[in-house]
Amino acid sequence: MENKMVVFFFLFHLLPLLLSIAGAHRNPIPATFNVLSYGALPNRITDNTKSFLRAWNDACDRAGGGRVLVPKGTYMLGSVVFVGPCNGPVKFVIEGSLEASSYPSKFFIDHWIAFKYVDRLTVGGGGYLLGHGGAAWHYNDCATNRRCRPLPVTMRFDFVTNSKISHIRSINSKNAHFNLFACYNVNMSNIRISAPSDSPNTDGIHIGSSSKIKIENTIISTGDDCISILSGSRDIMVTRVHCGPGHGFSIGSLGGSHNEENVTGIVIQNSTLFGTQNGLRIKTWAPSLPSLASDIMFDDIIMVNVNNPIFIDQQYCPQPPCNWQAQSNVQIRNVTFRKVRGTSSSQIAVKIKCSKHVPCKGINLVNINLVYRGPEGRVSSSCMNVQGKSYGLQLPSGCL
Ligand SMILES: *[C@@H]1O[C@H](CO)[C@@H](O)[C@H](O)[C@H]1NC(C)=O
Ligand SMILES: *[C@@H]1O[C@H](CO)[C@@H](O)[C@H](O)[C@H]1NC(C)=O
Ligand SMILES: *[C@@H]1O[C@H](CO)[C@@H](O)[C@H](O)[C@H]1NC(C)=O
Ligand SMILES: *[C@@H]1O[C@H](CO)[C@@H](O)[C@H](O)[C@H]1NC(C)=O
Repeated sequence: MENKMVVFFFLFHLLPLLLSIAGAHRNPIPATFNVLSYGALPNRITDNTKSFLRAWNDACDRAGGGRVLVPKGTYMLGSVVFVGPCNGPVKFVIEGSLEASSYPSKFFIDHWIAFKYVDRLTVGGGGYLLGHGGAAWHYNDCATNRRCRPLPVTMRFDFVTNSKISHIRSINSKNAHFNLFACYNVNMSNIRISAPSDSPNTDGIHIGSSSKIKIENTIISTGDDCISILSGSRDIMVTRVHCGPGHGFSIGSLGGSHNEENVTGIVIQNSTLFGTQNGLRIKTWAPSLPSLASDIMFDDIIMVNVNNPIFIDQQYCPQPPCNWQAQSNVQIRNVTFRKVRGTSSSQIAVKIKCSKHVPCKGINLVNINLVYRGPEGRVSSSCMNVQGKSYGLQLPSGCL
């Protein structure tokens, strides 16, 4: 009788408990590494770089992964690289604000905060990245080339895979706000980016050599491209992004250096542009080396007061020494502009200037409705070296 009770107790009480402990071990609740436990001080003066790094290293080293927590408060942070690979997924939760230095001597490095070689990273938490770009924008004088040095990107992701970035705000970056290089399967959503319309080189999200990247539900107001997609980008999907002010959505500049990889499979959809310098743009250098930009879809786009709403420019040469009359060798193929509507702030709302060497092929204009209400006359279009088709409503008409 006694023994039976023991067996009963073991089977129905102890065994489930033991199994659940074993289960918890196999599938642990992520351990939290709070930067405050590593000596971080949110007093806006102390440099917290070392505390953040130690919290990262412990989270990254923990078998099964971990979670770095930056609680509410404002933390000064120097340039820092959070390096993997880690022993499990790592969450980097920023609830507070991170503040960059505004001293010029700390500018000249390519990143403020960087993540490298990390798989299954999550960055989020609703916090702020305060780049304090003001002094840096004025420090550089690239037009005369007297002082023109690279400034740090607010957040860089290099070789980051299977990861998520969401609910983060970046304000007044010194250079681009976010930069993805050699990333694979990264989803970005609910990001808010802002910098003044005249802040130089403050691209919102800059993507190169990366594939399977999604950007959704994001608001970008900045001084350069809202999203720029460069050499080696494949399978990039942008959905419900609001851009403005800024220079619009840009593929390129392409063809500017040796060994550029092709750009293919880009979708930009259900997005709006508000008062931007360009809308949907593909640009290649003149002259340029051979590569390919293909299978590109711009779908369901609303424009409000946009200069150059639809713009393919294969003679991109903002200033010498390039020669805009030289021909690009980047082949642009299979590009659709569909349901693009709204207002243009320039008379030539559709400009497609392709290369004489490699004319654009398979350009489709489908249901375009762009209105111009300025002094220069009726809205118009201009096409050069293009082969393609147009369907449905065409305002302006007459390009293809
Ligand atoms: C990104 O989103 C797609 C679905 O839209 C999903 O298949 C993919 O697994 C997601 N990637 C990550 C890293 O969450
Ligand atoms: C884009 O918007 C259209 C309506 O304009 C809607 O039918 C479609 O489902 C939307 N697509 C996405 C991916 O949100
Ligand atoms: C780029 O595209 C061109 C033209 O289709 C092709 O010949 C070349 O192999 C592609 N390059 C790569 C690296 O895929
Ligand atoms: C053109 O690009 C679209 C994606 O935008 C793709 O679905 C389609 O297969 C491509 N067509 C050709 C002929 O390659």
